[in-house]
Amino acid sequence: MTSKVNMEKVASLCKRRGFIFPSSEIYGGLSSCWDYGPMGVELKRNVKEAWWKAMIQERGDVVGIDTSIMMHPTVWKASGHIDSFTDPLAECKICHLRWRASDITDNKCPQCGAALTEPRMFNLMFKTFMGPVEEETNTIYLRPETAQGIFVEFKNVLATSRKKLPFGIAQIGKSFRNEITPGNFIFRTREFEQMEMEYFVKPGTDERWFDYWIKERLEWYIKLGIRKENLRLRQHGKEEMAHYAKDCYDIEYLFPMGWAELEGIANRGDYDLSQHAKCSGKELDYYDNEEKKRYTPYIIEPSAGVDRSVLALLIDAYHEETVEGETRVLLRFPIAIAPMKAAILPLSRNERLAPLSKKVYAKLCHNFMTCYDDSQSIGRRYRRQDEVGTPFCITVDFQSLEDDQVTIRERDSLAQIRVPIEKLEEILQAKLNGEPFEATPLWATRQK
Ligand code: GLY
Repeated sequence: MTSKVNMEKVASLCKRRGFIFPSSEIYGGLSSCWDYGPMGVELKRNVKEAWWKAMIQERGDVVGIDTSIMMHPTVWKASGHIDSFTDPLAECKICHLRWRASDITDNKCPQCGAALTEPRMFNLMFKTFMGPVEEETNTIYLRPETAQGIFVEFKNVLATSRKKLPFGIAQIGKSFRNEITPGNFIFRTREFEQMEMEYFVKPGTDERWFDYWIKERLEWYIKLGIRKENLRLRQHGKEEMAHYAKDCYDIEYLFPMGWAELEGIANRGDYDLSQHAKCSGKELDYYDNEEKKRYTPYIIEPSAGVDRSVLALLIDAYHEETVEGETRVLLRFPIAIAPMKAAILPLSRNERLAPLSKKVYAKLCHNFMTCYDDSQSIGRRYRRQDEVGTPFCITVDFQSLEDDQVTIRERDSLAQIRVPIEKLEEILQAKLNGEPFEATPLWATRQK
């Protein structure tokens, strides 16, 4: 089963409207690396803010953190990533490209047809050297998950936040994996951003919290505005489970290439804290004041990909329809996620319209992301705003100079209403908060 939306169309819109560009494009690009443009960066920021609000701001039991990408190399020995974060690959004896078993047939190189070696294990972590000497003892790794930064700070956060179990530590940040087969636009990339939360619980209560977080996280995507029918849960089979996991569910989205992971929710047991305690020699347990005993907490981890959420939102919002015989492409973003909430569009570039239009812009931009566009015809500008998913376009015309009113056009219904400028902020704020848009609501006519 695949989604009806075509990935090429979404990627093409992302390029032409400033969401996502190929990285280093003037040099021919770099495989699977992407840059977020002016619209993409706002969309991504909105996703991260929604996550932070739901996971930290609106709960009393989770705190935030921001740890470094480069960590002591023993972290990765302790975490099991040096030994177990590997993929079995066969290497071409002629062109030396490496392939996953799932990508080959007849033990022949898909690139040049030559014979392949027996599969060997390759580590997915990026290596580099710290300091000027490039030798084995100076090897460090770019983190393949943000989670380890949380585990090694467990004691510091516990002591300073004075939290009691159950409680969580969350962070958003970049991670890196030397994926052998990246692809599907921003779905699988070697550099990506994660939103991870480690929830520390009393052993024995872990299964209950695991169920709780699976439900909570699925609900979050629905609240974010992703269509329910495009989301599903899938439990990992034993063979695909990460080396640290006792149990794991994926929240999957119906992408154009089929169902695929948006977020993994794992029961990591006491694996991580026990391993770090063993390898560092430091105690990473918890004193339970009520039970008067020490134990190592278990960890439930909802781990989401920022870029994958962005891609799912783009696909979910992508829409084509015919309006007056022409195809209209629009992104029906939920308002909270839309990169721009409003666009100020003077009817023309006539200099008489500019001062009032700029005054309206200056008023709105303090409250929400607003853009100003006076280039090309009004029709083209509406189309551009539809394609970036701006929910409201505000047109300043010559009549506005007489009656101090402007027109608001709503993206999805194309309905237009005329409102007094002095009420504009209030009206838009109500709409942004979810008040339904109606073509002739009472407040619009009352103002006349
Ligand atoms: N921390 C889990 C993951 O990165 O997949």
